[in-house]
Amino acid sequence: MDKIFVANLDDIKTDTLLSKNINGHKVLLSKIKGQLCAVENRCPHLGLPLAKGEVCDGAVVCPFHGSSFDLLSGANVDWTNAFFGMPMPGWTHKLIALGKSPAALKTYKLECEGEQVFIHL
Ligand code: FES
Repeated sequence: MDKIFVANLDDIKTDTLLSKNINGHKVLLSKIKGQLCAVENRCPHLGLPLAKGEVCDGAVVCPFHGSSFDLLSGANVDWTNAFFGMPMPGWTHKLIALGKSPAALKTYKLECEGEQVFIHL
């Protein structure tokens, strides 16, 4: 497992997403409840980027179909409940899912050395 510099500690803000491409790995960094976290910048629904999603209650909300994922654990919180930011009625959620089952986001381990943050890939 490679340990690679990813950002300075000051660059990672609370409830905000910082997008990085590290050796071809697209990741999102954030700070939730004082804890640093890193997840894959790829929604498990259709593989689209999550970087423009909002952070709400410690979860990133996919800007495409509203699935949300806990940024600390990667766990799926909600699945395909919207269409480009517009909430959709419950009966449409399975249609929007296009046959894909809820899945978690990949998470990465981070490590601080002084003011520098490293990711384990
Ligand atoms: S691509 Fe993210 S919910 Fe569809």
